[in-house]
Amino acid sequence: MKRVAVIGLGEIAKVHVPILKSMEQVQLCAVCDLRKERGTLAPDVPFYTDYKEMLEKEKPDCVHLCLPHWLHYPVAKDVVEFGANVFCEKPLALNAAQAEKFAQLEQDHPEVEIGLCLQNRYNETTEALMRIIQSGLEGKVTSIRANVVWARSPEYYQQEPWRGKMETAGGGVMINQSIHTLDLMAQFGGKIQSIQGNICQLLDYGIEVEDTANAHIMYQNGAVGTFYATVSHAVNTNVEIGVELEKSSYLIQDNKLWKVTPEEKILLAEDAKLPGNKFYYGASHSKLIRIFYEDLETGNRRYPCAAEGVTSMKMIDAIRHSSHSHVPQTL
Ligand SMILES: NC(=O)c1ccc[n+]([C@@H]2O[C@H](COP(=O)([O-])OP(=O)(O)OC[C@H]3O[C@@H](n4cnc5c(N)ncnc54)[C@H](O)[C@@H]3O)[C@@H](O)[C@H]2O)c1
Repeated sequence: MKRVAVIGLGEIAKVHVPILKSMEQVQLCAVCDLRKERGTLAPDVPFYTDYKEMLEKEKPDCVHLCLPHWLHYPVAKDVVEFGANVFCEKPLALNAAQAEKFAQLEQDHPEVEIGLCLQNRYNETTEALMRIIQSGLEGKVTSIRANVVWARSPEYYQQEPWRGKMETAGGGVMINQSIHTLDLMAQFGGKIQSIQGNICQLLDYGIEVEDTANAHIMYQNGAVGTFYATVSHAVNTNVEIGVELEKSSYLIQDNKLWKVTPEEKILLAEDAKLPGNKFYYGASHSKLIRIFYEDLETGNRRYPCAAEGVTSMKMIDAIRHSSHSHVPQTL
């Protein structure tokens, strides 16, 4: 039985804690947040405000990091140096340079495992489309288009001011909301040659980070990607991703995977749905967390490790830099 602790008891911890409590092979042994009132999320386990004290006293086997972006790398470093495994919420870090340091941490500490919460890789629609692409039977991927059209209110940034600042969030819609989609664009299309993007603020919320981004992606195999993400919409809509292969076309829409022909749309797969108003997170947190703990037992590595979080960070940096320089950035 693995002893597991959670650091950071805000929004996403409300997803992690019930999953951990429902699992037989793990025991939630402690939780930590700077704000004492957040301990009500897990009132039946010891609560700490200092994660280093928690590590010393509780000696967890694994620690979930549900923290603001700027704390992912430094806290993960402390946890792996203590000798515990890490399951870190996305993004890996604030930017690509820090992400590389995180991946190096993984190299330097082979005695522990680091899992990264890119749960949308485990959506049924994603897995079915990956199988089609990897089979090679439909030819190469020739284009990918993705749209993330979500809403974030001024209160979202006022309630947790770290979310609106470059120093603590590392960016806005790209690193916070659409990083999963950038990751899937890299998963589906393979190695990326270059990116030209634009970022802006469509709404005046008095924050530093972008609320909107778009990009033109050139893949090494000649495929083209088009990416659009915004949190300036009125409501959260389901992410849409279209993928053209040489012999057939596919669309992930409303959490369903369709094969699209000129005559019809054929349903191939459907995602499990997350109940409640956070449906747009996707329902695969539970699937990925269970895979991670199974793999800790068996020594497999089906979960995304730290090194696998670097590409999406490079894509974000490239979109940001090309938006300023107007020059495509090579990856
Ligand atoms: N995978 C997903 O789909 C998904 C969805 C939402 C959020 N997230 C990620 O989860 C992470 C947290 O986001 P959130 O929206 O839950 O943030 P949040 O601000 O709601 O929660 C963060 C919590 O960390 C606590 N905290 C800050 N510094 C601390 C410290 N030094 N020690 C202990 N606790 C500390 C805060 O008090 C707060 O309760 C982010 O990386 C975010 O990108 C992932």
